Order: sequence, then structure tokens, then C-alpha cells
Amino acid sequence: MQYVPFGKLGFKVSRLGFGTMRLPTVQDGENRIPDSPRAIAMLRHAIDEGVNYVDTAWPYHNGESENIVGRALLDGYRERVKLATKLPCWAVETREDMDKLLDTQLKKLQTPYVDFYLIHALSKDRWEKMKALGVCEFLDSAVRDGRIRYPSFSFHDEYPVFREIMTSYDWQMAQIQFNYMDIRDQAGLAGIRLARARKVPLVIMEPLRGGLLARPSEDIRAIMDRYPQKRTPVDWAFRFVGNYPEVATILSGMSDEQQLEDNLRIFKHVRVGGLTDTDKRLIARLRAGYKRRMPIGCTGCAYCQPCPQGVAIPDIFDLYNFSCMYDDANRLHRRYTSMVEKECDASRCVQCGMCEDQCPQHLPIREWLQTVDAAATK
Ligand SMILES: NC(=O)c1ccc[n+]([C@@H]2O[C@H](COP(=O)([O-])OP(=O)(O)OC[C@H]3O[C@@H](n4cnc5c(N)ncnc54)[C@H](OP(=O)(O)O)[C@@H]3O)[C@@H](O)[C@H]2O)c1
Repeated sequence: MQYVPFGKLGFKVSRLGFGTMRLPTVQDGENRIPDSPRAIAMLRHAIDEGVNYVDTAWPYHNGESENIVGRALLDGYRERVKLATKLPCWAVETREDMDKLLDTQLKKLQTPYVDFYLIHALSKDRWEKMKALGVCEFLDSAVRDGRIRYPSFSFHDEYPVFREIMTSYDWQMAQIQFNYMDIRDQAGLAGIRLARARKVPLVIMEPLRGGLLARPSEDIRAIMDRYPQKRTPVDWAFRFVGNYPEVATILSGMSDEQQLEDNLRIFKHVRVGGLTDTDKRLIARLRAGYKRRMPIGCTGCAYCQPCPQGVAIPDIFDLYNFSCMYDDANRLHRRYTSMVEKECDASRCVQCGMCEDQCPQHLPIREWLQTVDAAATK
């Protein structure tokens, strides 16, 4: 295992961190629930093998993740890790709720304090709401009374929002989604540069884009196979993220023992600056390969909006492009069904063509809407 200093906080963390959003599960009647004994054994094994950062949150596994982590960290394991959990902004209506939620989480985790307490999944709206409710004063007071060590946030929005949040409080860490496909999405590379300038260490989530980069289609795999250095898709994805010195810990949500063993092996070699220039060119080719799989040249400019029938054209095209890029038909069906429920799906198109008059890319929008509707409802 490789270790790096956690910014200026005075300790080192393992490059591989255990994300507990995707623990192994087992069937329980109608539902899948976490397989607690396996999850606890995996967490303890990871710690025995040198992992010293564990990330959980209120909603993971319907609230069970924090309980499982609490049990896994008994018997002396708590002292061996930095522990992170998160304030669920959506459950907060008053300043008092913040204290109540944190106290409940500490009970579930069976610990008097957490190292990192993150304001969970901040977006522009959430940040405005939490600021107005007094979240900064709450963080300061929870540090003073010893319930949390390092106030932090996790982030899901665009870079300008990231910049605003980063510069609004003395954060000790930020958690962002980052992988070789997301260099311009969310906080992206600009966010990494800002974190460096402000000396705020980063923890990375979704390094495999939630697992999609572990299962490349044949054309993408062929690009890897032609490269002289043979590595698995997972290995390339982790090495890409680990190459950045601003990145402290890379969280992986590991769903079985095999993935854990694999990742423990890979992280023996994940180093800052470990990629050669030719490695970087390979990753650029992989990225381009994925992008080539996007059939619709929509840039999301939204000149086609508003559609008089309420068809969410850019969102529909984005969904379809994404599902083609990653061969992910399940996601297409799931998300499209929710668009049908919200009455903004492609079947509402009445072929008026107003969108095509506005489209700077001159896309045959009406034809594409029919194609997507057929693919998503078949
Ligand atoms: N704060 C937030 O808003 C937020 C949001 C997302 C995540 N997180 C945290 O960040 C952690 C990491 O994110 P993530 O779980 O999305 O990470 P990820 O590494 O991008 O995806 C995890 C998935 O990758 C696959 N995987 C992992 N190792 C593998 C291996 N060796 N071989 C093949 N497949 C492998 C598994 O998918 P399959 O089992 O499907 O094959 C696993 O469920 C989460 O667990 C959570 O703790 C936080």
C-alpha cells in the first residue's frame, strides 16, 4: 500500500480508501440488504492490509452502512483509521437538526468523534440552503466540542459552484467525483487546480465511474490490448487518478472480496506521477474511444429549449449518449421511465420542428427523438 501526507493535517493516508456505498448484499424477501458479516470481514481485512481511510454516509444501504462500519471498527479497528461520514442536507430543516443528526450518526458508528464530517453532495441550491441554516457555525461548534475533527464537503455540481464553496469556508478536505472520463465534468481538472492553490487535500469518489470503467466494450478493450504494457481496465483507471499529487485517498466501493483483493494488489503500484507520457496518451485514446461511441453530436447548449411540448431534448440526448458510451441499457430504461413519469420524454414530440430551426449543430432532432424512444422502451 502506498501512503501520502493528508495535506497539512500531519498524518498519512492510504491511497486506497474503503467507500461503503456498495457493500456486498444478500436477498432478504423482496429486498437486497447488505451482507453484514461479509462486509465487516472485508472492512477488517482491508484495514489489516493497510487501508486506513473509511468513508460512509447516512443514506448508504438505507442507513445500514453506518451501523455496519460502526461494528467493523470495534475491537481496536477504529483507532487504526480515519473515519468520514456526512451530514444529509436533505434531512436538515433547522440548525438543531444538524446536531441531532450528527449525534445519531456517532451512536450508529459507536465512536465519540469522526475525523471527517462532510456536508453531503453539495450543489448550488444545497449550499445556499445549508449556509442560510447556519452550517458553518455548526461545523465550528462541532469541532470545538470534539465531535468532528475536520470539516469537509462532498460535491456534485459544476466548477463555478465548486469555486464558490471552496472559497467560502476554511475546509480541511473536499471530496469530488473524478476519473479519466470526468476531467471536464463537475469539479474536474479546474477543481483539482483550485484545491492545489488553496492547499485543500482531495478525496476522490467514483474513480471507476461507479464501475462503468471496469467493464469496457470490445472496441475500448482493443485499444488497451494494443498497448505494450498490459494492465486491466481497473488498474488504468486507478493509476490515472493516483497520478495527481492533490489526490490524497481514492475511494473504491468494493462489492466483493475479489474486487478488494484486486484493488489491494493494484494500489501497491498507484503512485503520484506514476504515469509515463505514453501511458497518458493511451488514456487520452481510451477517452476518445468512449466519446466516439456517443452517436448524437448534441453539445447541451439548450438552444432547442423550451420545447412547446415539454420534451427535455438535451437531457434525453445526454442519457442516450451516456448509455451508448458505456453499453448501459439498464440505466437508459430506468432514467427514461422517470422522464415518462415527469412527462418530458421523447414520445411527446409532435414533429413541429421548431427545435431543429434553433439547433446550432443542425441535428435531425426529430429523428433522434424517435430513435431514443424506441431504444428506451423496447
Ligand atoms: N459523497 C457523495 O456524494 C458520494 C457519491 C458517490 C460515492 N461516494 C463514496 O465514494 C465511494 C466510491 O465511489 P464508487 O463506489 O462509485 O466508486 P467506483 O470505484 O467508481 O465504483 C465502484 C464499483 O466499481 C466496481 N469495482 C470496484 N473495484 C473493482 C474491481 N477490482 N474489478 C471490477 N470492478 C470493480 C464495482 O462495481 P460492480 O460491483 O457493479 O461490478 C463497484 O461497485 C463510494 O463507495 C462512497 O463511499 C460518495
